[in-house]
Amino acid sequence: MEFLDTLRRRRTTNGPFLPDPVKPEHQRLLMEVASRAPSHFNSQPWRFVLIDDRETIEEIARISGESMTRLMEEGTFWKRYRPYFRFSEREMEERRDGIFIDQMPAVLKPFRKHIFSETGQAIMNRFGVPKTLGEDNRKLVAGSPLLLAVLLDKAEYRPGELSGFYSLFGMGAAVENIWLTTTEIGMGIQFVSTPMEIPENWRRIEHLIDKPDDLELMAVYRLGYVPPDQRRPTIDWSSSQRKRLSQYVFRNSCVTPEPDTEPETTPGGGSPGPATKTRPVER
Ligand SMILES: Cc1cc2nc3c(=O)[nH]c(=O)nc-3n(C[C@H](O)[C@H](O)[C@H](O)COP(=O)(O)O)c2cc1C
Repeated sequence: MEFLDTLRRRRTTNGPFLPDPVKPEHQRLLMEVASRAPSHFNSQPWRFVLIDDRETIEEIARISGESMTRLMEEGTFWKRYRPYFRFSEREMEERRDGIFIDQMPAVLKPFRKHIFSETGQAIMNRFGVPKTLGEDNRKLVAGSPLLLAVLLDKAEYRPGELSGFYSLFGMGAAVENIWLTTTEIGMGIQFVSTPMEIPENWRRIEHLIDKPDDLELMAVYRLGYVPPDQRRPTIDWSSSQRKRLSQYVFRNSCVTPEPDTEPETTPGGGSPGPATKTRPVER
């Protein structure tokens, strides 16, 4: 697979993985590509814990599922993430970011228009929607053959200071290397983020992995091989829409958006003429 093809195919995997263990050589490859990422002064502030111990995975899955249920029941999730949900194709087409409400799990669809209201929340709770989603989340995590904890060295990760920002930047690059490589080798990856939203649950995970004081637990992911026929799970945050160029790229200053059409170049690479041609939209 060509590099650009891999990059364009990268996605978040919301569905289940095959039960097959992740081959040791693939685990090593993922760790190697992570270490290839740039970091400030080559500090390599990241640390990783590969978790393939069944009991630990199941305990993290329980914590994740419980966290999901609690966030849904208390309405925290909807309150916190309301700005990212889109309710009509028109809104989606205009903004081209966020998550289109059509991509909500089937169990939530009847409540689509009401989920952000207190009445909607009460109805969902009465129907046990948070428990269903929590259990789905638990199963997804428990059914993953490998979890990956990403940590930062606190000597570098000092929030509020430049090195704190640099460390986050490098960690993002390392995770992206892992993410792209999973695509290349038939694997998938997804954030296990709900425990992070509930501080005491995050601490339970830190305890499970024996996190020392000099490291900060930044993220947990689940990984595995992707089945050939991927069914959409109940909770599906996948979103392939991307902003148009003119919505996120500017030329020379922040006031001149790059046009969505590209200037035609004269034969031989001369200066661009006035005519424009339409750039094919990537999907
Ligand atoms: C900082 C960050 C946090 C994210 N949190 C979650 C998450 O909690 N759950 C999840 O399934 N995906 C999470 N994602 C993945 C995004 O939802 C996803 O990248 C985005 O919707 C685009 O979809 P794609 O990755 O399939 O292209 C996160 C991504 C980033 C960079």
